[in-house]
Amino acid sequence: MTEPATTPQHGGTIPARPGHRGVADTAPGLRGVADAAPGLRDVTDAAPGLRDVTHPVPGPRRGDVEHETTTVGRSVIPGAGPAPRPTERATLRLRGTEADEPPRYAPEWLRLREPADAAARSHDLLDPLRIRLAVPPRRADGLVVHDIGCGTGSMGRWLAPRLDGAQHWVLHDRDPYLLHFAAVASPRSAADGSHVTVETRRGDVARLTPDALAGASLVTASALLDVLTREEVGTLAAACAGAGCPALLTLSVAGRVELTAPHPMDEEITEAFNAHQRRGGLLGPDAVTVTAEAFAEHGATVRLNPSPWRLGPGQAALTEQWLRGWVGAAVEERPELAERADRYLAERLAACAAGELRAVVHHSDLLALCRPADGDA
Ligand SMILES: C[S@@+](CC[C@H](N)C(=O)[O-])C[C@H]1O[C@@H](n2cnc3c(N)ncnc32)[C@H](O)[C@@H]1O
Repeated sequence: MTEPATTPQHGGTIPARPGHRGVADTAPGLRGVADAAPGLRDVTDAAPGLRDVTHPVPGPRRGDVEHETTTVGRSVIPGAGPAPRPTERATLRLRGTEADEPPRYAPEWLRLREPADAAARSHDLLDPLRIRLAVPPRRADGLVVHDIGCGTGSMGRWLAPRLDGAQHWVLHDRDPYLLHFAAVASPRSAADGSHVTVETRRGDVARLTPDALAGASLVTASALLDVLTREEVGTLAAACAGAGCPALLTLSVAGRVELTAPHPMDEEITEAFNAHQRRGGLLGPDAVTVTAEAFAEHGATVRLNPSPWRLGPGQAALTEQWLRGWVGAAVEERPELAERADRYLAERLAACAAGELRAVVHHSDLLALCRPADGDA
């Protein structure tokens, strides 16, 4: 992990559209964002402090942010469909010539899914986690939580207000652009009103070491495991086990989808999509099983719980983007499906627009309770 940067706490929110404007400049247009993503603070009371936030935020190399913010405005496909995940196509390449750059995620897509993610995460894993976090010794200065692959920080906005006590969140991602938004819209207070602070670290979570997690109370992630490989998940499990800290890893795709009304093509699309997700050795729908095994090999107690998206007429925008990405990735995997898949998608989108489509997109949450490190218990 590289380039730590401590970020002061101010209010803020994620922009409706990424673009070349500074965060402070975008403030007037942001009220809609706060409405769409209940976990985000309204920007109006935060605007005065935003410039303070944007300048120290996170550590891209000098010049990167300028380059990115101008290019993004032109090249982002808002909410572009999923690949390798449902609706998570690489939505932008900031430096178009570097073909081997990893995919990057559009903040609009992460914003669109945030309420559905929040509704889906399993509450049943929180009590065992709270019990574990209460086991002495507790750090006098509160919990230290590492959110890996944090994106724009939705996990922190969900979890920080559900845990008691002061918290310091360390937000990890390889994308400095997303880290910037995560810092700006970071959670402010814990369940009991205690203070929450945040810092960002840019780097590759696949190279996480126990040292990087030294002093950690908890590792979290959301919608990350299925875009990792078996080896990367093994590295993550080893790092958590070495640091003796629990891990709450939410919203990994399960590879199952239910749509009403059922359609003869549902299964074909599902299978092709799942195959697409496994491209290049990524875990896709195998993520939770492989991760559970990896933690168990280190002696951790692992609990799994379902965390499905339940999409209906109230989530039409998300459903539409998800459908486009889901079918699009399936066709990319099996081009011979194209003609029939086009008709299938048109039918599903029409039902969605008419408020008649319901979808359950299955995910799983995983809690791994690693043995405390020597000297911690
Ligand atoms: C699907 S997004 C989820 C973001 C966020 N956790 C959420 O739930 O909204 C996956 C995130 O993981 C990050 N990511 C994926 N692989 C990574 C890696 N190897 N190292 C660091 N970040 C990674 C991406 O940049 C992206 O922000």
